[in-house]
Amino acid sequence: MPASMKTEHYDTLIIGAGAAGMMCAAYAGQRVLVIDHAKAPGEKIRISGGGRCNFTNLHTAPENFLSTNPHFCKSVLSRYTQWDFIDLVDRHGIAWHEKTLGQLFCDISAKQIIAMLISELENAGAELRLRTSVERIERRDTGFAVQLTSGAVTCTHLVVACGGKSIPKMGATAFGYGVAEQFGLPLTETRPALVPFTFSTEMLAETKSLSGVSIATQATCNGTGFNEAVLFTHRGLSGPAALQISSYWREGDTVSLALLPDVDLFDMLRAKRATEGRRTLTTVLAEAIPKRLADHLAGSLKIEGTLADQSDKVLRSVASALSDWKIRPQGTEGYRTAEVTLGGVATDALNARTMEVKTVHGLHFIGEVVDVTGWLGGYNFQWAWSSGWAAGTAIAAK
Ligand code: FDA
Repeated sequence: MPASMKTEHYDTLIIGAGAAGMMCAAYAGQRVLVIDHAKAPGEKIRISGGGRCNFTNLHTAPENFLSTNPHFCKSVLSRYTQWDFIDLVDRHGIAWHEKTLGQLFCDISAKQIIAMLISELENAGAELRLRTSVERIERRDTGFAVQLTSGAVTCTHLVVACGGKSIPKMGATAFGYGVAEQFGLPLTETRPALVPFTFSTEMLAETKSLSGVSIATQATCNGTGFNEAVLFTHRGLSGPAALQISSYWREGDTVSLALLPDVDLFDMLRAKRATEGRRTLTTVLAEAIPKRLADHLAGSLKIEGTLADQSDKVLRSVASALSDWKIRPQGTEGYRTAEVTLGGVATDALNARTMEVKTVHGLHFIGEVVDVTGWLGGYNFQWAWSSGWAAGTAIAAK
């Protein structure tokens, strides 16, 4: 029989050599094969955090995740925590720092995290096979028969770790959802998340002068708010607060921006009117907000003259325009630039400790393909590490 026709047997086959898949491989025990259709493992890790990988968040807690079942993530996040991953990073001598809001980044390069995961999986004896795709999966009495482009494989445990649909240019596919459907598992609606907003042509024309302006804000939508910066772009609105709130936004919703959330603008303007009444409103505003934004606001509210010319009513309208600026995005930039995919394999179908499918013994789903989505700030990687570890250790214990 030619070598290519021989069926290889592995205890565990992991589809996807990304964050979750490599983590799982490092803990899954004997005879583990990880395959990926890409030519390099961990491509999203490489480009993450501007090349420095925001690999976890000091404040990781179940509240930082969206899911149809918000309790599902609790078990694995509490058994493999941010501190466990930090410990692993420390053992590999990778220097890191906290940037802001508990977000931890490598001092030097995201490639160190990839090298660490490869060394962990190699030390565990796992095999990594790149440029390899899955052609067919069949269930057998004692596991699965999988036809790979590199040949036929049987395995006792099959782990689907092929991520979400974000950034198809980097190899993202909907493959994992297809496997879920093949085994009759429910899926929740998938949407691009952590993604910049786009504006209509009219809104773009109105905000054209603001392109490039960044300002601290509280962005709120559907009862959830984030205090971070927004950035006006030539397409619409980006920056951390916009990306965060995009996960809570639906078509037709309004996003409310409270610029300078920590300042009482009306009081500030009134005080300035008393002491610096001969200055113009825009000059005074430009001390607190970017000049282009001050000009835009004065123009859209049709305010002219000095501060002394403005009544309390006018000052109030300026303050409320800044503290409750309603924006109705036309849409988002979609999967082309979204950092993650919201939704996915319904958590109801999975065991919350082991990530194994309740109805299909030996089949696991981990990482982004599952309906658990983190906020911006290192939470999505922590979910990948924790869920990968949970599946891996559960498999090794069998
Ligand atoms: P991941 O996408 O990492 O891995 C899936 C793997 O499966 C890939 O290697 C892919 O090639 C492979 N694959 C897909 N389909 C396949 C198929 N049909 N056959 C074979 N292989 C297949 N998060 C965070 O916490 N901090 C951060 O700094 C960032 N930054 C960031 C920047 C950018 C630009 C993006 C796009 C995303 C982030 N993220 C992030 C999100 C983070 O990258 C993401 O949540 C994790 O990588 C998800 O890990 P997974 O292992 O589930 O999927």
